[in-house]
Formats: sequence, structure tokens, C-alpha cells
Amino acid sequence: MADTRHLISLRDLTDADLDRIVRRGREIAAEDPAVRKEPLRGRVIGVYFSKTSTRTRTSFTAGALRLGARVVTFGPGDLQLNTGETLADTARVLGGMLDGLVIRTAGAPEELRRFAEHCPAVVNAMSADEHPTQALADLTTLWSRLGRLDGLKLLYAGEGNNTAAALALALPRFSAVELEFRTPPGYGLEPAVLAEAQALAARSGSRVSERHDMESLPEGADVVYTTRWQTTGTSKSDPAWQRVFEPFQVNAAVMARCPDALFMHDLPAHRGQEVTAEVLDGPLSIAFEQAQYKLHSATAVLEWCLGQ
Ligand code: CP
Repeated sequence: MADTRHLISLRDLTDADLDRIVRRGREIAAEDPAVRKEPLRGRVIGVYFSKTSTRTRTSFTAGALRLGARVVTFGPGDLQLNTGETLADTARVLGGMLDGLVIRTAGAPEELRRFAEHCPAVVNAMSADEHPTQALADLTTLWSRLGRLDGLKLLYAGEGNNTAAALALALPRFSAVELEFRTPPGYGLEPAVLAEAQALAARSGSRVSERHDMESLPEGADVVYTTRWQTTGTSKSDPAWQRVFEPFQVNAAVMARCPDALFMHDLPAHRGQEVTAEVLDGPLSIAFEQAQYKLHSATAVLEWCLGQ
């Protein structure tokens, strides 16, 4: 398995790797699946989701099948981890049987790194602090839609969650990007992630900033992006948390302040909370196209991780 690679964090990717996966995702989107080769024929991919998922689990499963692999899936209640078997023992056993393992966990990336000690080609399909394959799908969507990532202006409104962290670690690698986070007070990006994103931006002539209000929105945004307020697998200790989030709802008034912007959402959505139905289902929304791109991007990730 010398030619396999893990994708546990976007930090695992060089700029060239990131560029390659996004380009390949675009190529896959344009391919006719009926004539596609099956480079993973004979391989077996495990898909282990300890948390709910519609898009990510389906995109990696469908992507692996389309590449010719066979797939073994494990849901939240399936593995003996639930009855006290250690993670190390689980990883050792799965690693001896599988060629790749796609994992969603409520835990930290360290949990995935422990799987990676024994398993070839571990993919982070969302952990507590990063959702790297979401950012890859988002960048693939944006590049396909706008024909560029350089010079992109993206306004993110909502919680500084794992999707926000992934965008922060990916988009500023492209040049002259302006990435502005508007996060509720107390629910911002991890300071270390913001600092890392700003360091990436400084290297590429981009800019990353964060504020905790919705005043003076940046001019000329190409994209307004939000995510659900209750990130999958998490809850908030403050019973009044919604009051803090309400000013960050993306509605027609916010979109009117960004007149040239498309709207993106990683889904699932709660219409009436982080976004109104008018915006999510409106003509500027590319949220469902973005969901479709998760398949193309997951396929590109599997090719990259499995050494194709
Ligand atoms: N965006 C996303 O990760 O969706 P799922 O939770 O449905 O996989």
C-alpha cells in the first residue's frame, strides 16, 4: 500500500495536491460515468459513519462504486467499539482487511490519525474541528461555476464550525482571495485556525478576517455562504444560543447587500434559521449544485488517496 495517502486534514495537502484534487473533481463532473474506467476494481473501501450523514456518506459510497471498488459500510451502532473494543484494535483489524477507510466521527482528528496508524488511505469525512472534504467540494463547485478561485470574495455568515475551519484552511491558498467570516460572539473560529488561515493568506496575497456582527458587509462579494446553526453531532450549552445567532441569518436583506453574490450552503439546512426559504430555494442559490459536486469531489479524493 506504499502508494496510498491519508486525507485527515487539509494540512495534509500541499497546494499542488489541493489544486490537483479540485481540478480532477471538475474533470469528473464533466465525464460520462458510462464510459469511465474503474481504477479501483478489486479494492475494498470501508465507510464508517458514527454520525448521521446524507451527502458525504452517499458521495463516498457512490464514488467508490463508480470507481469499481466494493464498499463495506458501518453505521453508528455496528462496530464492537460500542461494546468496549479499543480503537487501536479496531483499526488494526480493519486495516488488515480494507484498502481505504472513510470515517465520520464526533471526535478530534487524532482519532483518525490512530486509525491511520493501521489503515491505508484514511479519509476524514467530518470530525469535530474540520470538514476537509466539504471544502474540497465547495472549491470544486466554485471553480466550475465561476471559472476561477483566484480573486474570489467569499462572505461566510454563521458559526465558526468545522466547515468554516475547512474553508479557512483551503481557500486562502489561492491568490488575491478575500475571505470574511461573520460569526456570532462566542461561536467564532478557533483562534489558532484563524491565525493559520491568515498566514496562508499572507503567503498568497489573500486576506482572511473575522468579525462578530453583520454591519458594514464587504463590497463585491461573489458568494455568501452559511451552514446550519446546530452542526451535526454537536449541541450548545447555552439554552438562549439562538438569540445570538439570529442577526446572522442569511435572508433577502443580506443578499440585497451583496448584489452580485451567489448563495452557498453545505446542507442540511434549517429554513427559517440560518437561511430563509426564499434565499435557499431562490435563483441565486447553488446549494444543491454544491451537494451534487460532493460526489465528483469525493471521487477525486478517493482516486488521490488510493494512488490513482
Ligand atoms: N454537508 C454534509 O456534510 O452533509 P451530510 O452531513 O449530509 O453528509
